[in-house]
Amino acid sequence: MKIQRYPDLETLSRAAADMFLQMAGKYIAAKGRFAVALSGGNTPRRLYELLGTEPYILSIDWNLIHFFWADERCVSHDHPDSNYRLAFDAFLSKSRVPAENIHRINGEEEPEKEAAEYERDIRRFFGEREFPVFDLIILGIGEDGHTASLFPKSKILYEENHLAGFVDEKGIKHPRITLTLPVLNRAENVLVLASGKSKASVVRKVIDEKDPALPASLLSHGEGTLVFLLDRDAAKLLS
Ligand code: 6PG
Repeated sequence: MKIQRYPDLETLSRAAADMFLQMAGKYIAAKGRFAVALSGGNTPRRLYELLGTEPYILSIDWNLIHFFWADERCVSHDHPDSNYRLAFDAFLSKSRVPAENIHRINGEEEPEKEAAEYERDIRRFFGEREFPVFDLIILGIGEDGHTASLFPKSKILYEENHLAGFVDEKGIKHPRITLTLPVLNRAENVLVLASGKSKASVVRKVIDEKDPALPASLLSHGEGTLVFLLDRDAAKLLS
């Protein structure tokens, strides 16, 4: 696990955008495509906006990138809380990503069925016989230690067979569909973004204490690379 610290969210977001650009080039050269899963929330918004502007928008080979989502809220695709909409408005709409490369989670219909459909889409893309290995997954951390839509004590944390599942926990505004831990933990690269004082305590519990009750502590990278990108405020309680 690597920890990178930045003065603020702006420098953190620029570093993440540079990593995205560099990884896109590397995986496209090696595999002819770059498969990414995005998160929602406030923290990656600036990163997504940067990807929609120069130099990124002109330097990235958008045709060869496939976009998936780490999780989605069960709302319509144009709802302000939609994770798809966040990325679409910030950069996908400005890029030349072909529509068939956008593997949106449909949060609008029956969630169990849509989670199964999302899983089928992932299997079709990576090949039915292979376990899906994303080139990059971008995640955040909630103050309660959740990541993607894997919340503390949720039974989906124990899921071993499914790639995606439906989650409805007390206290969350919308039910969600999320990738499961085995998928997050097999990715080649995971970037976890955290910014602001409100994340300082959970960042300490996840990184220093590895508190097993917190889903973000369960991100473990055997062969892949797990990098926490933290701004000064989020990192301030780390030893
Ligand atoms: C979502 C997420 C979620 C998010 C954290 C952090 O859709 O909300 O994917 O896991 O990354 O809740 O959210 P913030 O960046 O808003 O703090």
